[in-house]
Amino acid sequence: MARKTTIRSDDPEDDPDSERGSSGKDLPDFTSKRSGGNRTAGGASEPISAEQQRYDEELRPSRLEDVVGQREVVERLRILLEATKKRKEPLGHLLLSGPPGLGKTTLAHVVPRELGTEIQITAGPSLSAPKDLLPYLTNASYGSVLFIDEIHRMPPTVEEFIYPAMEDFRVDITLGDGLNARTINMQLQPFTLIGATTRSGMLTAPLRDRFVNREHLDFYSLSDLSSIISRNARKLRTEIAAEAAHEIALRSRGTPRKANNWLRWTRDYADARADGRITLEVAKAALRMKGVDDAGLEEQDRKYLDTIISVFSGGPAGVQAIAHTMNTPADTLEDEVEPFLLREGFVQRSPRGRMVTLKALNHLGRPSPFRDPPKGGNIQPGLFPDLSEPV
Ligand SMILES: Nc1ncnc2c1ncn2[C@@H]1O[C@H](COP(=O)(O)OP(=O)(O)O)[C@@H](O)[C@H]1O
Ligand SMILES: [Mg+2]
Repeated sequence: MARKTTIRSDDPEDDPDSERGSSGKDLPDFTSKRSGGNRTAGGASEPISAEQQRYDEELRPSRLEDVVGQREVVERLRILLEATKKRKEPLGHLLLSGPPGLGKTTLAHVVPRELGTEIQITAGPSLSAPKDLLPYLTNASYGSVLFIDEIHRMPPTVEEFIYPAMEDFRVDITLGDGLNARTINMQLQPFTLIGATTRSGMLTAPLRDRFVNREHLDFYSLSDLSSIISRNARKLRTEIAAEAAHEIALRSRGTPRKANNWLRWTRDYADARADGRITLEVAKAALRMKGVDDAGLEEQDRKYLDTIISVFSGGPAGVQAIAHTMNTPADTLEDEVEPFLLREGFVQRSPRGRMVTLKALNHLGRPSPFRDPPKGGNIQPGLFPDLSEPV
């Protein structure tokens, strides 16, 4: 029953308390071996490092009841799971979208665990041709989950190949070519596809429509982040003051992965520079040292805003142009930098590009760059709101 590409949901390797953590090598190996390739190969945005994957895995909630926040999404999932279990039918295909670090992979793992079924894992960039996907489809057992991370990065040939698999649990395989070509149909076991994407907008409509269940994850509230931090401090056996958890939450840009990373850093700092307890002072000093300001902005965010202000006179500037100037992939900006800055009102998006806002200028203590647009540039005077007025 156990297959190479299959991870049973009760696999001890999924258990954060298992011994795996000590060597620290197993997770990345296991991901690439069992998922048939590097999850970020071919993707343009910054890969998640092996170390980050190990961190994520260690603190990942394993059951639905441990998932903090996202109440509505969790409630809807709970209903779907209960109905699926009652009917003993496979769960309908599920698409999870949202910015990085909000829990897409976490939920994709929680679902098969709750259903007591198997999961296979792969990622869009690893699937360069239908033949890369075929083993996953043929290996899928009745009701099991196939998780495709970064599903928006699947090439069109693979996407077309997956349509009949999703719809009719069937694949059409072409053998030979030219006059001798013939197509054979192969029946699959009904399975559940879980797709995760940071860009649901980049998914083609036919693919999106084949997911009967679609859930979008949004940034977390301060209180949810604080409770994730406090829980995880307990998991890491570290004492943390409530105000310190709140302070870390404030600077985690609504993202549990960020919160976990800052928690680890403040814990290291507390061990090295204090008595191991994370107090408010320790948290503040540790985060100051990492260059995180009180709005949660980091070096890269400030560099992004600074580039728009200094190089593009405040904007509007296209993301490609900003990315070139910063020497950073545009995908990284769109996935990891902009969503938070947009949500917090530090930048605005228009069809002509990104513009910094008065809030960003105030935050950085910069004068308005809009007053005197460069002559001969493609920026028309009068196009911008008068941002020089005091708030
Ligand atoms: N709802 C949540 N409750 C508690 N921890 C969470 C939650 N969502 C995410 N996390 C934490 O954040 C980390 C990153 O989440 P992950 O699911 O890998 O994000 P994504 O796949 O969306 O990039 C996880 O390891 C987990 O520790
Ligand atoms: Mg993920």
